[in-house]
Amino acid sequence: MSVTDAWNGPIGRHWADHPDRYNAMLAGFDAPLFDAAVIAAADRVLDIGCGSGHTTRTAARRAPRGRVTGVDISEPLLERARSLTPAEEYPSVSYESGDAQTHPFEPGGYDVAISRGGVMFFADHIAAFTHVAGALRPGGRLAFICPQPARADGEESKALGLLASLLGRDHASENTVATAMASLSDPKRLHEVLGAAGFTEISAAAVDAATRWGRDAADAVEFFVSRTPGLAVSAATRAAMTEVLLPHETPDGVLLRAGVWVVSARRPG
Ligand SMILES: C[S@@+](CC[C@H](N)C(=O)[O-])C[C@H]1O[C@@H](n2cnc3c(N)ncnc32)[C@H](O)[C@@H]1O
Repeated sequence: MSVTDAWNGPIGRHWADHPDRYNAMLAGFDAPLFDAAVIAAADRVLDIGCGSGHTTRTAARRAPRGRVTGVDISEPLLERARSLTPAEEYPSVSYESGDAQTHPFEPGGYDVAISRGGVMFFADHIAAFTHVAGALRPGGRLAFICPQPARADGEESKALGLLASLLGRDHASENTVATAMASLSDPKRLHEVLGAAGFTEISAAAVDAATRWGRDAADAVEFFVSRTPGLAVSAATRAAMTEVLLPHETPDGVLLRAGVWVVSARRPG
């Protein structure tokens, strides 16, 4: 299945059906992302792979005199984004359906481009980031997050790997989306890609945060299982999966530490 089909199929629909879950999962990365983006009050902001629009709306609150465009390839997610972004509250936000690798952005039309995990899915990273650079004004900034390499002893990758293996699946290589997730995890590659795309002042800072997977272990298992529609899971398997997550239960829910790169770069002025 292609990346576009996946984000318009079960994975995209799952993200569209559970925006609060995914936003809670990624919340720990928002402050580092927005610190790197340094959005000013009158900035024109492009949110690449905006999904259900959480970061698009955050950007709009940070740029009350600017405007924000969210672009995404997923129709279910764009529909959710529009429904969560009332025009009265967010008059400067618009959403566009399109592939950010080739979408006809206004040349130099943005001061800042951001992405919370939407840029790893590009088929040709150098061509795509070159295109994004063209959408930024000279001196414009790029800030995004993408996963660090999965470590065998990493809390989130270890727990999710165990859950997947209990379901008889290989979490890391299961589908196109999971494979693409890791495409920018090597910081050397990140620097090469962004340099080749014409960016300068490239930096990739390691940030760790707790991702929240559910209220408690059983709830997190339900959520994990629900990501594969129609999957039949026995009570015994659910119980074994719950055991995996029990050590990660906290008063704030099931928390699994995970690492991302917070990447920033600039289009030369
Ligand atoms: C991991 S989700 C993150 C969504 C959102 N940024 C968030 O943090 O909630 C990745 C998003 O990137 C979008 N996406 C993937 N490839 C894309 C592309 N080439 N152009 C635009 N959006 C893309 C997907 O449809 C999906 O909404």
